Amino acid sequence: MPHTIKQSWAEPYKIKMVEPVFITTREEREQALQQAGYNTFLLRSEDVYIDLLTDSGTSAMSDRQWAGLMLGDEAYAGSRNFYHLEEAVRKYYGYRYLVPTHQGRGAEHIISQILIKKGDVIPGNMYFTTTRLHQELAGGKFVDVIIDEAHDPESTYPFKGDVDLDKLQQVIDMYGAERIPYVAIATTVNMAGGQPISLANLRQVRELTARYGIKIIHDMTRVAENAFMIQQKEEGYAAKSVAEITREICDLTDGATMSAKKDAMVNIGGFLALNDADLYDEARNMVVIYEGLHTYGGMAGRDMEALAIGIAESLQDDHIRARVGQVHYLGNKLHEYGVPIVKPVGTHGVFIDARAFLPHLSQDVFPAQALAAELYLDSGVRTMERGVVSAGRNRETGEHNYPKLELVRLTIPRRVYTQAHMDVVAESVASVLAERDRIKGLKMVYEPKYLRFFQARFEPL
Ligand code: F0G
Repeated sequence: MPHTIKQSWAEPYKIKMVEPVFITTREEREQALQQAGYNTFLLRSEDVYIDLLTDSGTSAMSDRQWAGLMLGDEAYAGSRNFYHLEEAVRKYYGYRYLVPTHQGRGAEHIISQILIKKGDVIPGNMYFTTTRLHQELAGGKFVDVIIDEAHDPESTYPFKGDVDLDKLQQVIDMYGAERIPYVAIATTVNMAGGQPISLANLRQVRELTARYGIKIIHDMTRVAENAFMIQQKEEGYAAKSVAEITREICDLTDGATMSAKKDAMVNIGGFLALNDADLYDEARNMVVIYEGLHTYGGMAGRDMEALAIGIAESLQDDHIRARVGQVHYLGNKLHEYGVPIVKPVGTHGVFIDARAFLPHLSQDVFPAQALAAELYLDSGVRTMERGVVSAGRNRETGEHNYPKLELVRLTIPRRVYTQAHMDVVAESVASVLAERDRIKGLKMVYEPKYLRFFQARFEPL
């Protein structure tokens, strides 16, 4: 028997509790979609069969995490669970100070308000919606310094999350280091399709920023997935554990914002982690205004306990191999069906290239939004737009931002769906592809002022 026969991985767990899901009829879905204004964010989850809207807060907790909930110490101040969480953050990520927040954007708000002054510039490896908005609301301007490959869905470069050091140097030369409070580095880069940054590149970013005294603030929302890709693809890391690589990443940065709803597999929660005592002091002062006391920051004691356990689980090699393996299974299947997807397949989802899928539609009729609506109609699979709607408007000119990437994201929650669910999803996408010519695009009929993708409404053209 050739050894290549043994290629499959399997999940390092078995299922002990199930939650039924229901298939609706096409007529029911048509009605639900119309009521939702053709925005998958506005659908009721009861009307959804397989929910690939996001991997945020939708993962399955382990029996240990559920047991942790029972150990919640709901004291207003100094909860024992806070200290467990602080210990986990120090042990696994290496950051000294922890400020819990209700979720990632709570941490983004605090760090932006503390570090950014009006007129400042924040370079980063591609924007994220909430991150950029908090930078802007604090008076700053985001500047994209990611490598060009990240904007090209066809480029198979393995580390599309890398920073273009020339671009970063240009931003420093143009604005001066004193106007750059920090460089924002995400592991992995969500909007690029879940693409990792390499340690070699991060080290160079560290060297460059250190020369100018510029901080690095790390969006560590999916750092375990990034570490896994480094282990798989970067020279010299095959023998290191995901936990070791994660620590190496964190050690190259000055602080981090975390949406614990992703990697760490809790339904709600996040934090700001810092190494500088003075900054921590300021953050502790701010968290009580917006989130809660500095030992809970908007989280229940039980949720902090589940998070402390989830952090350890998220860094286990067999867990992350199965997690990313499932995403790649779906990606490979879609690729075999001829569906245009962002390459290489990312770590938290598969991103369909809506421009290539619907070449007859211009970005003004929201092709990715239209495709997400169509996939829902076909099979009850809920996906999300990551294109011109998500990119919002330019705050100076009021025009749409037209991103190069016009994507539909099929995001996979952790430990929730089976391979059979992935098969059903892939077959649905393939059948929509076969009939793509009838998809006409959408017109926006209601547009919220901030983060419009969450609540905008559309009508079919
Ligand atoms: N940073 C990244 C890279 C994210 O993906 C998210 C959330 C946040 C920050 C904000 O964290 O939601 O806890 O406030 N991403 C979700 C998603 C919403 O679906 O990709 P949050």
